[in-house]
Amino acid sequence: MDLNIMKIAFIGGGNMGEAILAALIEKKLCTPADICVSDVSQERLQSLKDKYGVVVTGSNREAVAGKDVIVLAVKPQTLTEILPDLKGNLKATQLVLSIMAGVRISKIGEGLAHQRIVRSMPNTPARIGYGASGWTATSEVTKNQKDSARAILGAMGKEIYFDDEKYLDMVTAVSGSGPAYVFLLAEALIEAAVKIGLPRQEAETLVSQTMLGSAHLLEQSGQPPADLRRNVTSRGGTTEAALKVFENGGFSKLVEDAVKAAYNRAKELGEAAKS
Ligand SMILES: NC(=O)c1ccc[n+]([C@@H]2O[C@H](COP(=O)([O-])OP(=O)(O)OC[C@H]3O[C@@H](n4cnc5c(N)ncnc54)[C@H](OP(=O)(O)O)[C@@H]3O)[C@@H](O)[C@H]2O)c1
Repeated sequence: MDLNIMKIAFIGGGNMGEAILAALIEKKLCTPADICVSDVSQERLQSLKDKYGVVVTGSNREAVAGKDVIVLAVKPQTLTEILPDLKGNLKATQLVLSIMAGVRISKIGEGLAHQRIVRSMPNTPARIGYGASGWTATSEVTKNQKDSARAILGAMGKEIYFDDEKYLDMVTAVSGSGPAYVFLLAEALIEAAVKIGLPRQEAETLVSQTMLGSAHLLEQSGQPPADLRRNVTSRGGTTEAALKVFENGGFSKLVEDAVKAAYNRAKELGEAAKS
């Protein structure tokens, strides 16, 4: 499949559906005419049509006809509604790409009686082009289709392929839920700043820019985070005083426990959603 002529259907034109199609158009991976969005909300469809010039329909069946890739971008709880619409209406060669959190390939495969499936786990920064997505594919997905999946997910940020679906529960616990961990740290840092006397607005700007700058430094320097941390920690200095408090409070263990809790929950939810 030539990426330049990729025709895509979106089942669900909500937040994520819009984020992906906007990125595909912006990166010129598709023209608006190559994209068809299906959604239950007429208002939503009209808004996407007006904003991007994409083709819209209220029929999931109509949306998938003749498309190379079908992106499943509805909420996981809505999946059961769309399965009967699509089952029997997909060609065996079409690629189904799911971005639904926690929904296993077996559930999609059985529900659609379809084999070529990519399951991905993006995160919320994907909505502004800074996503981190983990993904995997069934063995029936061709090399060209994997390239298409890589291009679609790559349009929203970084994408990493895993050769086993088991890794997606780990991805969920690290980068899927990860933005919330970062926001929690931001919240706590802002509150602490206000407590020691900084005005709130200035504290918010300083914290947000510190996170942004540190993330860029981590990425651009190519140095491990531990080295970068040591670089700003002089003996007997202010950073060392703060880091000692983190260490004494069991910070690393707390993060480990939190990630394990998310991972276990992801596995539980995946199991529960199987049936
Ligand atoms: N948001 C994120 O940053 C993020 C990150 C990672 C993964 N995800 C995954 O991405 C998926 C979509 O999330 P989202 O935030 O984009 O959700 P969303 O904004 O609720 O989008 C889903 C869209 O699908 C529509 N829809 C509902 N039933 C439908 C049907 N039967 N046929 C066609 N369309 C239907 C919804 O319409 P109504 O609103 O009218 O019901 C809505 O417009 C979820 O599975 C989520 O787990 C999201």
